[in-house]
Amino acid sequence: MTAPFIVVTRRPPGRAVEILAEAGQVWVWPEDRAIDRDLLLDRARDADALYTMLTERVDEELLDAAPGLRVVSNMAVGVDNIDREACARRGIRVGHTPDVLTDTTADMAWALLLAVSRRIVEGVDHVRSGRWRRWEPKLLWGVDASRTTLGIVGLGRIGAAVARRGSAFGMEVVYTSRRPKPALEEALGLRRVDLGRLLETSDHVVLTAALTPETHHLIDRAALEAMRPTATLVNVGRGPLVDTDALVTALSERWIFGAGLDVTDPEPLPADHPLVALSNCVIVPHLGSSTRRTREAMAELAARNVVAALAGEPMPAEVPTTGGS
Ligand code: GLV
Ligand code: GLV
Repeated sequence: MTAPFIVVTRRPPGRAVEILAEAGQVWVWPEDRAIDRDLLLDRARDADALYTMLTERVDEELLDAAPGLRVVSNMAVGVDNIDREACARRGIRVGHTPDVLTDTTADMAWALLLAVSRRIVEGVDHVRSGRWRRWEPKLLWGVDASRTTLGIVGLGRIGAAVARRGSAFGMEVVYTSRRPKPALEEALGLRRVDLGRLLETSDHVVLTAALTPETHHLIDRAALEAMRPTATLVNVGRGPLVDTDALVTALSERWIFGAGLDVTDPEPLPADHPLVALSNCVIVPHLGSSTRRTREAMAELAARNVVAALAGEPMPAEVPTTGGS
């Protein structure tokens, strides 16, 4: 029997490639950018395993090109880039990287929430541009985080970690989720509400939901209209949870106080996009899990998912065929 062939779409950090090499012959796209689609389709032909980034679309076309494929391992917790049903129909297992990035991503949500609320980027611009001439009693007033109401949309692992941070800031925390989470409600004093109620009552709305057909444009024009004029919106989930055009209007016309975005639609966001010019919008380029410790842990977990799947063993983090938070 020949060794399994493992296709890696981008050089992963840490020990991932060494771990993969225990399980088969590894081919890594050598360049410092996303792999060309045609080359990926070609390499997939002989692949037993695909180790992917969230930039790769794993769809029927790619799966059709890969008759021997047994596992797709995404170096991300979100798997909206993967057609899970198509994988399930073919008996292809799907892995992802939960848990190892939870706190790091919740920290990013918190950084954005505070940056928008306290106008950190505008303050930095003020200093850098030489406009800081004197102390002013009303300079760059923000909104409070402490002792306000935090609304978490999609209470999964990351949402729960954001809730913990909220509790530490003396916030009242409400959430939406497809299923109630009684243990978390009990442990953290959370309250489950519907989305309408969450939007009306929250001072800060944090999106951590997975992107699915049901959550696409969950935050649309009507949702933004329902929010308080002093509220902030933070998105660390996926860009298309929010209708970008509606958000541009909401921020320009000050329907809400501001937004902090780790993810956008489109992504990457061009520098001349109207969102970028808005002083009440803080955008970072999808950095939620981007620390050395976390990205290395994700890369290694994704590698161990491949090794286990190729051995026919339980994967450390297999995406269930149905369900989610
Ligand atoms: C990043 O966005 C991830 O899903 O891990
Ligand atoms: C998402 O899957 C999460 O971990 O919250």
